[in-house]
Amino acid sequence: MVEAPPIMDVDTVRAQFPILSRSVNGKPLVYLDNAATTQKPQAVIDTVSHFYAHENANIHRGVHYLSMNATDAYDRARATIARALNAEFEQEIIFTRGTTESINLVAHSFGARLQPGDEILITKLEHHANIVPWQILAEERGLTLRWADVTPSGEVDLDSFQSLLSEKTKLAAFNHVSNALGTINPVKEMTRLAKAAGATVLVDGAQGPPHLLVDVRDIGCDFYALSGHKVFGPDGIGVLYGRHELLETMPPYQGGGDMIERVTMEKTTFRGLPERFEAGTPNISGAIGLGAAFDYLQSLGWEEFHAHEQALLKRATERLSEIKGLTIHGTAPEKVAVVSFTMDGIHPHDIGTILDTRGVAIRAGHHCTQPLMTHFGFTGTARASFAFYNTLAEVDQLVEAIQVVHQYFS
Ligand SMILES: Cc1ncc(COP(=O)(O)O)c(C=O)c1O
Repeated sequence: MVEAPPIMDVDTVRAQFPILSRSVNGKPLVYLDNAATTQKPQAVIDTVSHFYAHENANIHRGVHYLSMNATDAYDRARATIARALNAEFEQEIIFTRGTTESINLVAHSFGARLQPGDEILITKLEHHANIVPWQILAEERGLTLRWADVTPSGEVDLDSFQSLLSEKTKLAAFNHVSNALGTINPVKEMTRLAKAAGATVLVDGAQGPPHLLVDVRDIGCDFYALSGHKVFGPDGIGVLYGRHELLETMPPYQGGGDMIERVTMEKTTFRGLPERFEAGTPNISGAIGLGAAFDYLQSLGWEEFHAHEQALLKRATERLSEIKGLTIHGTAPEKVAVVSFTMDGIHPHDIGTILDTRGVAIRAGHHCTQPLMTHFGFTGTARASFAFYNTLAEVDQLVEAIQVVHQYFS
């Protein structure tokens, strides 16, 4: 018999997130904008604040105690993240500013080897961060950008994806989870297809680890990009996982201190991985805080909170579907707890603004996925995106607030 995962104690978890007990507009905060950014547990706040209060120093260059200590803490964070993602080597974890910078790093550095006529395959489900760097690169280097279709339920159309792969495809880049619709993409299968065609694979994982246990070796991808602020860690820090052999062959992304071996007036030689891709003083406290966030997630267990989030998704989908004139966009069978919707005759921004008066924070707009919105024929949606610290009662508060929206417009 398969054992059911233990039910997460949401009250205990919520108590670890100080911001969740505040009010907004005189109402208890119902925070449902987690796809934009997540709230931080006390463990992360304490780690960052402890670093500045007791451990602050620049890394790598110091012979003094504090600098060596900070370097150790920074390296430990890298090791924690490597383990959490099941990377083979710690050096495969490059600290960046976030998913956007991770993708731009690949576009600049890996992109330098692409030749006119080469193709990059993305999907219509992508965030602008996984579109614009490829458009810029395509323009600069005479490449062709191909777009795999999406199905009416908001899934990548695998037939379309496969049909666009050829020996010309040098890179396939797609998200693990759609921020706009919540679709979980079959990234392992997509990677297999792309690799069979000889392409290098980048997975935009901004919305992956906030909900799913990620195993980069099981997926088989070459790159996996993520943002600290979306995984309950600090902002201004992120990760590019890159396969060791591939990173080894890539030129630096930025030049400066810390990434060099030797600089002379004639020439510079570069350090090995990961320093070669981390020019300048990095976000030291951010990296350490991100390590603490992964430790925290590991202590909760992805399986436990995934089960809880699925219960939130089910309730939200059922209750919102009952509201007259409300349409849910994104109905894939495999979804994280994101519900994107429109209401007949009501602008998504009006929905968001009225919900805010009830303390309910959601996002309204195109969610940085304008090609996807255009494909479906609307300019934006209202989006409630949940995390493991949300409750079934908050789903009900969302529904009650939406009923108030109805009253405004009837
Ligand atoms: C799927 C996806 N990709 C990329 C990004 C960009 O992340 P960041 O702004 O943290 O770099 C986001 C942010 O919402 C996202 O949801």
